[in-house]
Amino acid sequence: MKNKVVMITGASKGLGRALTLAFAKAGAKLAICARTSENLQLVKKEAELFGAEVLAITADVSNARDVERFVATTENAFGRIDVLINNASILGPSPMPMLLDYPEEDFAEVLRVNVVSVFSVARRVLPGMLERNEGSIINVTSEAGNTGYAGWGAYGISKFAVEGLTETWADELRHTNVRVNMVDPGEMNTDMHRLAVPDCDYPLANPEDIVDVFLHLASSDSAEMHGQRLEAQPEGDA
Ligand SMILES: NC(=O)c1ccc[n+]([C@@H]2O[C@H](COP(=O)([O-])OP(=O)(O)OC[C@H]3O[C@@H](n4cnc5c(N)ncnc54)[C@H](OP(=O)(O)O)[C@@H]3O)[C@@H](O)[C@H]2O)c1
Repeated sequence: MKNKVVMITGASKGLGRALTLAFAKAGAKLAICARTSENLQLVKKEAELFGAEVLAITADVSNARDVERFVATTENAFGRIDVLINNASILGPSPMPMLLDYPEEDFAEVLRVNVVSVFSVARRVLPGMLERNEGSIINVTSEAGNTGYAGWGAYGISKFAVEGLTETWADELRHTNVRVNMVDPGEMNTDMHRLAVPDCDYPLANPEDIVDVFLHLASSDSAEMHGQRLEAQPEGDA
């Protein structure tokens, strides 16, 4: 990862924070964003303790101007983007309503943040990657995007769309060295999980224990991997 430029959306907490620290430790330069400035700046400081150069931009990925500012600032500062991790996501209303009761505005908002933003950030980053004919895009999916579960509403449906987007884009880019893959991180101990399953009574993985699959997909060791759906294995599991 030495000197690779890694862009991570939704990096102020949870998995995004864990990925930022893992890539910083591995020697990458980082461009991170989230809507909440205070938490994001804390993560920047934590990552800098590993000696990483970190650009932290307060930005909402569902806002086109914010996306442009985030990507353009990163390209100006670092000259390129080698890896994009589309991690930012929202759950929607909690407790999660059944579809029949799902407010239309909330449904549209979840799809805007979780799907349209993945498309628009990638579309803005891709030209630079294609010019250099090198790059790795990693989208974050979920088990709820692979099987439709009652009560997982717009969130699950948004992840189905992320999976379709990943496969379609991977196929369109199959003759290039720009790779698009996705990771299902599994259930993790984060704010999102607390919103989704407030009465959770089983053990959960910590986000920092499932980062290896992302490091692998970001590196040239996975040069042959394209259009794949990988599941994270918590450290210690077989
Ligand atoms: N936790 C799980 O069990 C689980 C399971 C399967 C998949 N996942 C997936 O893993 C990824 C990370 O989830 P997590 O559990 O770490 O979630 P989380 O703790 O809720 O963190 C989400 C991150 O995304 C940011 N974010 C949300 N909306 C944003 C927006 N519009 N623009 C920019 N940043 C935004 C949040 O910061 P701000 O609020 O400050 O913007 C935060 O940094 C998500 O894609 C999620 O769907 C999670």
